[in-house]
Amino acid sequence: MTEPAIEVRKLWKRFGQVDAVAGVDLDVPPGAFLVLLGPSGCGKTTVLRLLAGLEEPTTGEIRIGGRTVASGAQGTMVPPAGRGAGLVFQSYALWPHMTVWGNIEWPLKVARWSPADRSARVREVLSLLSIEDLEGRYPSEISGGQQQRVAIARTLAPRPRVLLFDEPLSNLDAKLRVEMRAELLRIHRATGATSVYVTHDQIEALALATHVAVMREGRIEQVAPPADILATPATPFVATFVGTPPGNVVPAVVHEGRFWWHDVDLAPAGGVSEGERRWLLYRPEQISVCAEPGPRRVQVTLAEALPLVGRTVLTCWHGSSRITAVVDRVVRLDPGATLYLGLPDAPATSYADNGSQAGGA
Ligand SMILES: Nc1ncnc2c1ncn2[C@@H]1O[C@H](COP(=O)(O)OP(=O)(O)OP(=O)(O)O)[C@@H](O)[C@H]1O
Ligand SMILES: [Mg+2]
Repeated sequence: MTEPAIEVRKLWKRFGQVDAVAGVDLDVPPGAFLVLLGPSGCGKTTVLRLLAGLEEPTTGEIRIGGRTVASGAQGTMVPPAGRGAGLVFQSYALWPHMTVWGNIEWPLKVARWSPADRSARVREVLSLLSIEDLEGRYPSEISGGQQQRVAIARTLAPRPRVLLFDEPLSNLDAKLRVEMRAELLRIHRATGATSVYVTHDQIEALALATHVAVMREGRIEQVAPPADILATPATPFVATFVGTPPGNVVPAVVHEGRFWWHDVDLAPAGGVSEGERRWLLYRPEQISVCAEPGPRRVQVTLAEALPLVGRTVLTCWHGSSRITAVVDRVVRLDPGATLYLGLPDAPATSYADNGSQAGGA
């Protein structure tokens, strides 16, 4: 097996009373495009800043390219410039008094490249980002999308082995975001650099990633290729966080050999003991919409019916539980309507109740 490009062991970062990162372990294979996905405040930016060397770990270790760059135990802390990692932020922070050329050349000057090497490399990344014609302009003379290209070019210039992105596309409009996504994939393939990319936009995550790490409250709940995260979510949180729309996880209790959710008899509880609790996963596309009550039908109130290319996403409430269903037709229903959602014979999967609440149910 090839050595991981990035290895993170028991990484912990505490700010005062807040555990921003609370025991992260991660191996990123060379050339991977790892997306860190998770809700606001779960520690994504802090992980990136720890990798970049902008924060010092409270405890734990980071190795980049086999070399320890941060270690709580050994007191090692390699400064950002010595890590071979380039960071692209959401705000591009270009030097306003320098041209596009000057901005891209700057990190190479700092790294003491020769004038001839600098010039050749700036030309190369200008061409990689298709911004050759902007080289003489100042940041105030180019658009936001172009500024983001310049910021990426500037980060690529010194040939970092590792590229770190913190929501780099979130300031761009929807159309430009889609274009830049494709560009980033092309650049990732062209440079072969290992990338760690932070977003809370799932579509972006699923479109770009070779691997997705789903974070929650400073921890990683699952790392897997995007298709596997969708097909086999490892925890109730992942199941209810990932997917458009995400899965429904229902808290069920076993009574007389069957799973019950309130007064709804859901399914046989094969082997699970009386009184035990489980989280049952029902995918939105497994749920049907009915007008009448019946077995395995849950009475709900419609919150929203969202038409989506020939389908409708129905968001409903059963008490304080939200349930989402996708039906293959256009449904015209008003919010507030009473419906019955028909659950399938068996859930997609079930999770042991280890006390951690799922996101949705
Ligand atoms: N310098 C700091 N001092 C104190 N607390 C901090 C600091 N930086 C981050 N935190 C806290 O650490 C937690 C994780 O923050 P972080 O910025 O890593 O989250 P995030 O996942 O990037 O969120 P978002 O999606 O909103 O950008 C939050 O509770 C945040 O308030
Ligand atoms: Mg952040």
